[in-house]
Formats: sequence, C-alpha cells, structure tokens
Amino acid sequence: MKEDDIWAYAEEHSSPEPPLLSGLNRETNLTQVYPRMLAGHMQGTLLRMISHMLRPSRVLEIGTFTGYSALCFAEGLAPRTPGDNEGWGVHTIEVNPEQEKIIRKYFREAGAEERITLHIGDAMQIIPGLGLTWDLVYIDADKPNYLAYYEMVFPNVRTGGFILADNALWDGKVLLSHAKMDKDAQGISAYNDFVRSDNRVENLLVPFRDGLMIARKL
Ligand SMILES: C[S@@+](CC[C@H](N)C(=O)[O-])C[C@H]1O[C@@H](n2cnc3c(N)ncnc32)[C@H](O)[C@@H]1O
Repeated sequence: MKEDDIWAYAEEHSSPEPPLLSGLNRETNLTQVYPRMLAGHMQGTLLRMISHMLRPSRVLEIGTFTGYSALCFAEGLAPRTPGDNEGWGVHTIEVNPEQEKIIRKYFREAGAEERITLHIGDAMQIIPGLGLTWDLVYIDADKPNYLAYYEMVFPNVRTGGFILADNALWDGKVLLSHAKMDKDAQGISAYNDFVRSDNRVENLLVPFRDGLMIARKL
C-alpha cells in the first residue's frame, strides 16, 4: 500500500471541506506565492476537531497566513459567558500586512469577526502585550523562533492547556545531522528536543502530514 493511496483513502473517508474553507483554499492557491503554507482540508479538520474537543475560551495562533486555521479553531470555541469578556476568542498574529485583506474578507464571510481578533505585526512584539491566559496555543510561524514562542507563551498557558506546533517533522529534515540542517530545520529540531525533555509537559509528536507536536501543560 502506497502512502499516497492511504492518504487519499483517509481524505475520501473524512467529512468534506466546508464550502467557505474550500473557497479560501482555492483563492489562496490562486493568489498566494506559497499556498502550501495553508493548513488545508485534513489538517484544518483535525484542528477543528481538537478545538471542539477542548472547547477553549482563549486561543492564540502565531502565524495566520490567509486565516484558514484560525477559522477552524474559532468553530470549537466555548460559548462566551459574562465572565469571559476579557479576551474571549481566537487571537491570531500575522506579520505580513499584505495578508490582511484576504484574512478579513474570509473572517467576514464566515461571520467570525466577533470570534477572531487579528493582530498584524511581529508576534515577538505582540505576544507580551496581550496579557491573556491561553487554553490553546498554535505555533505556525517562523521556524527558528518556535522555541522562543514556546518560552514566551508558556507562563500564560493555563495548567491543563495545550501548545500545538505545526511542521514538527519539517519534511523529514529533522532527521538530518545538525550540520546538514538549514536554519528552519535547526529551529524545529531544537523545539522538538526541548519539548521532549521539558518535564512541565506531556508531549506527543503526531506524524500527521508535516508533523504536529502536541504539548499538554502539567
Ligand atoms: C505556515 S503560515 C501559517 C498558516 C496558517 N496557520 C494556516 O494553517 O492556514 C506562516 C505564517 O506566519 C507568518 N509569520 C512569519 N513570521 C512571523 C512573525 N514573526 N510574526 C507573525 N507572523 C509571522 C508568515 O507571514 C506566514 O503567513
């Protein structure tokens, strides 16, 4: 059995991509230089499932791109309660201001503007000013900074909260010797090593798509 066939079978036997997300997927492919950065049908469904399972009140996403994964997280949010006003929803950070138009267009079309706050700017600068406690953090931006993001958000993740990191296998380059790795692979590799040895979390590297590192704060 070929891996591609298995993947195709899995995709055929999963719920189809919702029309709004498939429209965003199509527009991303038509208009963006690196459309592969988008989560896409299968990963997006996994993130949406995780969000539905956790029912988070506050989600931080680092790396919005065209907004696909932010829309997936937004679907599983816990209902807003009167005590939840402070920062409730998905906060997503994108450094590239050219993305703003398409992101806002799809947040609007999805009716998700109340549930998602878009921050345009460098996550390194924005995160310290947010001052919120997170149920779920998704790291999906510049790879050399993965570990810096982890350290930065960790004190503000609640006990029992989760930190997910995408591209944890980086196209298999994490298996190379350190000398042969590029800066991105080194960043991911350092992240995986650190999380694995961090006794403040339980972790699982899921070899799904390009790898998803899941850490649960103890
Ligand atoms: C892999 S894409 C995100 C994909 C998106 N999460 C999804 O699944 O559809 C990474 C994004 O991170 C953004 N990015 C890179 N460095 C960043 C930084 N320092 N702060 C905020 N965003 C950054 C890039 O511009 C890019 O749009």
